[in-house]
Amino acid sequence: MQLRQTRGELLVKQEELGAALQAAHTAGRAKSEFRANMSHELRTPLNAVIGYSEMLLEDEPKPELRYIESSGYHLLELITTILDFSKADAGKLQVTMKPVAADLIVGDVSATIAPLAAKGGNRLKVRNALASATVQVDPLRFKQSLLNLLSNACKFTDYGTVTIDVHRGERRGAPAVAWQVKDTGPGIAAEDLRRLFKPFSQVGEPSTQQIGGTGLGLALSAELCRLMGGEIAVESEVGAGSTFTIWLPESPES
Ligand SMILES: Nc1ncnc2c1ncn2[C@@H]1O[C@H](COP(=O)(O)OP(=O)(O)O)[C@@H](O)[C@H]1O
Ligand SMILES: [Mg+2]
Repeated sequence: MQLRQTRGELLVKQEELGAALQAAHTAGRAKSEFRANMSHELRTPLNAVIGYSEMLLEDEPKPELRYIESSGYHLLELITTILDFSKADAGKLQVTMKPVAADLIVGDVSATIAPLAAKGGNRLKVRNALASATVQVDPLRFKQSLLNLLSNACKFTDYGTVTIDVHRGERRGAPAVAWQVKDTGPGIAAEDLRRLFKPFSQVGEPSTQQIGGTGLGLALSAELCRLMGGEIAVESEVGAGSTFTIWLPESPES
């Protein structure tokens, strides 16, 4: 009697679980759809704002128009980071690895970051010991991660030096390639280092938060590097600058 009752209860529970699972799937799909729609809905008008401000700037290089343009780009970057992060958080972000010349990546990211470095009065130095070698990465996602580190280095450093240093090394006992971004900026306190890679974490002086950002850059970059089989390490000392290193396993052809 009791067994039959328990069996009955179990069947009900099973049904409930099935329904809950179904609901979870539906909710997951709704979330993905929402993300895709938001991405489109937010970017379309913003691209129009940027596009028209650029058109107007051609006729009339007014500072106000430049401000609209740069704010537009800034907002676009924030939206992209937030959407990418929510995609990564849902396990929906994928990487496609292919062989790319290390030189090409270094050239691309340093050209992209040069204006931001100059804006803070920083010197940009490049050391690439991997000239003419090939690495296995998802080119877009890898450059995005490197640019995140570089933009942080430029953002938090004034009248200093930001260095990109690429070399071979060893990580966890295996041959690896180190993509280092060093700065001579304010550095990060030991107790804050652990929190850096947590989503929405901004550390240090309140002034750091005033610089702007989402606190998602490092969390997203760390996830992207993990998806590419690597990781990000950080070394820093207050007053002595910071070094962020993307370690990627050495690929056979590199
Ligand atoms: N190179 C750096 N020098 C000093 N602080 C840094 C540096 N890079 C990151 N940080 C600290 O880590 C926080 C998180 O960085 P990030 O995830 O890129 O977010 P965001 O740049 O949007 O603030 C920053 O707000 C800052 O407090
Ligand atoms: Mg950042």
